[in-house]
Amino acid sequence: MRTPLVAGNWKMNLDRRAGVDLAAAVRSHLEGLEGVEGAIYPPFVYIEEVARACAGTALAVGGQDICDQEVGAFTGEVSGAMLRDVGATTVLVGHSERRHVYGETDEKCALKVRRALASGLKVCLCIGETLEQRDAGQTEKVCSTQLHGSLNGLSTEDMGQITIAYEPVWAIGTGQTASPDQAGAAHAYVRGVLSGLFNQAVADATRILYGGSVKPSNAADLLSVPDIDGALVGGAALTADNFLPILDAATEVRVR
Ligand code: PGA
Repeated sequence: MRTPLVAGNWKMNLDRRAGVDLAAAVRSHLEGLEGVEGAIYPPFVYIEEVARACAGTALAVGGQDICDQEVGAFTGEVSGAMLRDVGATTVLVGHSERRHVYGETDEKCALKVRRALASGLKVCLCIGETLEQRDAGQTEKVCSTQLHGSLNGLSTEDMGQITIAYEPVWAIGTGQTASPDQAGAAHAYVRGVLSGLFNQAVADATRILYGGSVKPSNAADLLSVPDIDGALVGGAALTADNFLPILDAATEVRVR
């Protein structure tokens, strides 16, 4: 059974006050909704305060990244245990900005996924092709390679803690959204890869979110596609005016 999930990735935006206010607005809106789960990913330094504002509610709070090591001399890094300690329950791994701006490889993502699980965190693993790769007909190959590489070594049981976010890089922050058909085809393909990597039950149970310029005006169309189980939202997650209608759109989706 896959309950739709709408997640907001704040990236390096908002300040303490704006973040706490936005979290409070999302939390109270979500309390009035049924059939949708919510998550927000604030910058590290605001996680504790935002998590406190969301404690005991259905709104999960998570980190945008995690160190691939457990503890020690890793200047600038944040561990899974630290994320748990400040109230995070989930973490993004392999976001396209981590992969393309900071050069993270699938190997690095696999280590991060395993560290997150060992720390008791859920994981939202992001994958997706660049425009160049799409134009070269490599979308499926890229997604398959990223999934194989990043989920390497996981058990079927581990997969219960994993959500996949398919985010075509060319649609992130560009205003250019994948059409429901394009996204649907990629999601169906990703589900097939999960079935091959694990089994059909895992493929059927794993949520696959779409990300890339999701906004109130396109959310309903995207979320109505059978294999799209929610959204990972960037720009439109920064204001309640934009984010709450996307949560609303997800409630129209039947649990699959
Ligand atoms: P966007 O970002 O909604 O601003 O395109 C999505 C993401 O990067 O997760």
